[in-house]
Amino acid sequence: MPVLSALSVTLEVPELDAGVKFYTDAGMVADVEDGNARLRCEGQDRDSIMLLGGFARKRLHHISLRANGLNVIADAVGANGGRVVNAPHGFEDNGLWVEDPNGMLIHLLEHPADAELAEAPTFEINAPGRLLRKRRSAVLPSSKYPPAKPLRLGHILVFSPDVMKSVQFVTRALGMGLADHAQDVIAFTCAKKDSDHHVVAFAKSPGVGFHHASFQVSDPDEVGRGGRALLSKAGRGDWGFGRHTIGSNFFHYIQDPWGSWFEYFSDMDHIDDHALWSPTNYEMEDSLASWGPDVPKDFVHNYEVDAQEFVSAGCAAEAAE
Ligand SMILES: [Fe+2]
Repeated sequence: MPVLSALSVTLEVPELDAGVKFYTDAGMVADVEDGNARLRCEGQDRDSIMLLGGFARKRLHHISLRANGLNVIADAVGANGGRVVNAPHGFEDNGLWVEDPNGMLIHLLEHPADAELAEAPTFEINAPGRLLRKRRSAVLPSSKYPPAKPLRLGHILVFSPDVMKSVQFVTRALGMGLADHAQDVIAFTCAKKDSDHHVVAFAKSPGVGFHHASFQVSDPDEVGRGGRALLSKAGRGDWGFGRHTIGSNFFHYIQDPWGSWFEYFSDMDHIDDHALWSPTNYEMEDSLASWGPDVPKDFVHNYEVDAQEFVSAGCAAEAAE
């Protein structure tokens, strides 16, 4: 049962300080050393985001996935259009490094499972015929809430020039399952057992690239509060608060310093046994959200393949002066 969960995303970035500020504003803990930054969820002893400083542009370096059966994966990679490669310069030669058929680098690692998260308080909603909360308010004054706290990395969405080829590779060579897709434009893949609805997802684009990493928070209110707070600090684009159709999660996306995205999520569908799940091919109108604000024009724009640099809202305002 090869891929089990998402471990991390590694990005080459031009402004390390801006990246560290963005992710720490999002509630993550940073360790900066030798021009690189490692970011983790408070309470976890492993990194979820790694930023490699000193590059001219943001670019996806690789994604890391927790897996077992690495020998079985290594044997299947070539027959499914990928190749086993050496560890890139500066990285440990551990686990298994592979390139998918589109040239995206994936690091597969045997790694202990994360500790179980503490049980969150029940998110109670008074509904017709079902009054759960009486004589008390559901919502406290804003000042009473601590900043949003990402609990764990749930999934990674990457761009792919051939979405169904990417899906074929991760399902046949890496032992993942297709959860759902919308035509050949976006597809969601999961681990075969006890998985979030999606662990790795692919969106169609002329080239490979990083779209977003998504972090679980306690409940839908924390998605909304966290999203609004991070937006006010980051000062660029956002999309949310809303709810996806595919995966069912509540979401709020905030644009990072390079035009890609950070997502807070809550209430994701869970697939305990992929053999008992039936993937749906959704219409494009259902591919993004059940409800939410209008989608930003550049929400699925891959700045990694576009010659035009991402210009943040702040920079654009300065340029116009
Ligand atoms: Fe997401």
